[in-house]
Amino acid sequence: MSSAGALPRPIPGAPARTIVVGISGASGAAYALRTLEMLLGLGHTVHLVVSDYGRRLLFDEAGVTHLDFPSLVPRLGDATIADRLFIHPNKDVGAVIASGSHRHDGMVVVPCSSTSLGAIATGSGSNLLTRAAMVSLKERRPLLLLHRETPLSLVDIENMRTLTLAGAIICPTNPGFYLRPTSVDDLVDFMVARVLDLLKVEHRMGARWGEGAAGGDGTREPGRRISSSVP
Ligand SMILES: Cc1cc2nc3c(=O)[nH]c(=O)nc-3n(C[C@H](O)[C@H](O)[C@H](O)COP(=O)(O)O)c2cc1C
Repeated sequence: MSSAGALPRPIPGAPARTIVVGISGASGAAYALRTLEMLLGLGHTVHLVVSDYGRRLLFDEAGVTHLDFPSLVPRLGDATIADRLFIHPNKDVGAVIASGSHRHDGMVVVPCSSTSLGAIATGSGSNLLTRAAMVSLKERRPLLLLHRETPLSLVDIENMRTLTLAGAIICPTNPGFYLRPTSVDDLVDFMVARVLDLLKVEHRMGARWGEGAAGGDGTREPGRRISSSVP
C-alpha cells in the first residue's frame, strides 16, 4: 500500500522545520510513509532512521525494498526535495542525530514497537533510533511515540508512564471515526494530521472537528457539525 491522499505542497510563510523520523518494527508502515511524504512535500527537512524490523515492516506492508528517496516517497519527484532527506544507518550511533548539539524541531517514532518503547524508557541508546529519541528527551525537544500494540501489558503501560513523565508524547495509532473516513487513506491521514499538529508543522490535511464533516455521500461540507456533542 502506498500513501494516496492529496499530495502536499509548501505553504507560503510556514516556517521550515527539521524533523527526525524513526521507523521501528510495529505494524503501520503506511503511517510512516505518509508522514515522510507530508513532511518532505511541505518543504521540511527529515533525518530518517529505520530499525531492522522497521525495514521488514516497510517491505511486508508496503513493498519497500530500498531505503532511498524514490522508494520511500515515490510520488515526490523533485531533486530539491530529495536533498532534504537524510537517511542514517541504525547502527551508526555516531550520526548527527545522536548528538544533542544537532538542532532539530522534534522527533517522531512512527510506528513505535513495544521493543523500542521499552528501550527508550529504560535509557538504552544501543541503536541510533533509541539514542536519537533519548537525546530528544534530554534536550527537551518534542518526542512523539506512535505506539502500536494491543492489548497493552503492564510493562507497556509503565513504560508509557515513565516516558510521559520524561516529556514524551505517547500517541497510539488510534484514529477517530468522527470525520467519517471512507478509506484506509483517510484513517492514515487522521493520524498523520495529529502528528503534524503535535510537531507544530502547518498543513492542510482536511477537516478538523467543528471545521467540516463528511456528508452521507462522503463529501465534506465546510462548517457542518456531525452532532452537537464534542468527541
Ligand atoms: C509482521 C510483524 C508485525 C509486527 N507488529 C508489531 C506491532 O504492531 N507492535 C509491536 O510492538 N511489535 C510488532 N512486531 C514485533 C517487533 O517487530 C519486534 O518486537 C522487534 O523486536 C521490534 O524491534 P525494533 O523496535 O528495533 O524495530 C511485529 C513483527 C513483525 C515481523
